[in-house]
Amino acid sequence: FNIHNVSLTISAASSKQYPETDWPEIALAGRSNVGKSSFINTLLNRKNFARTSGRPGKTQLLNFFNIDDTLHFVDVPGYGYARVSKKEREKWGALIEEYLTTRPNLRAVVSLVDLRHEPSAEDIQMYEFLKYYDIPVILVATKADKIKRGRWNKHESVIKKALQFDSNDDFIIFSSFDKTGLDEAWQVIEQFVD
Ligand code: GTP
Ligand code: MG
Repeated sequence: FNIHNVSLTISAASSKQYPETDWPEIALAGRSNVGKSSFINTLLNRKNFARTSGRPGKTQLLNFFNIDDTLHFVDVPGYGYARVSKKEREKWGALIEEYLTTRPNLRAVVSLVDLRHEPSAEDIQMYEFLKYYDIPVILVATKADKIKRGRWNKHESVIKKALQFDSNDDFIIFSSFDKTGLDEAWQVIEQFVD
């Protein structure tokens, strides 16, 4: 997976600003701080291309990243960030919901959860939402470097049970720190964009 050129096409605040390209799009979803931007950086082998930060709520717009003029990764604002107003949260929700339910370019959503923890109510809601709208899901359980390898299976089971995970969906154990799951993530994404 040799990526040559990556660039930001646009940070969209509304559907009017979506790119006019017909390239496939892979969107990222997950709670604030789960590691969405880090996932993109890891896949692109870039240090800080999609901006990451210890400060949750950093990504506030739909960021369309151009991957070699063939594909867009769409970095989405994280949900579940408590320190924003209810009104602001509703605005984010509407932006994301509109994108996910109306965008023809969308091929799959990489839904990120933290391998360490039971999925939150919002993680479950997101998964149910994607299943309801029949949007292909790639479940990525990240921050695997924070858990001993021998415990991965146990954590995977807990997550799958809480989500009522569909065994037809892909489940990838991932780490942006040590690149666990990197090849698998690309293989799965390629299947959706071909
Ligand atoms: P928002 O843009 O706020 O929604 O957050 P995000 O989901 O894009 O998270 P981001 O990639 O900015 O990462 C949040 C924090 O988690 C940063 O401090 C990252 O360094 C850390 N982080 C991300 N991925 C991993 C991982 O695989 N392992 C570990 N240990 N830390 C990670
Ligand atoms: Mg981010």
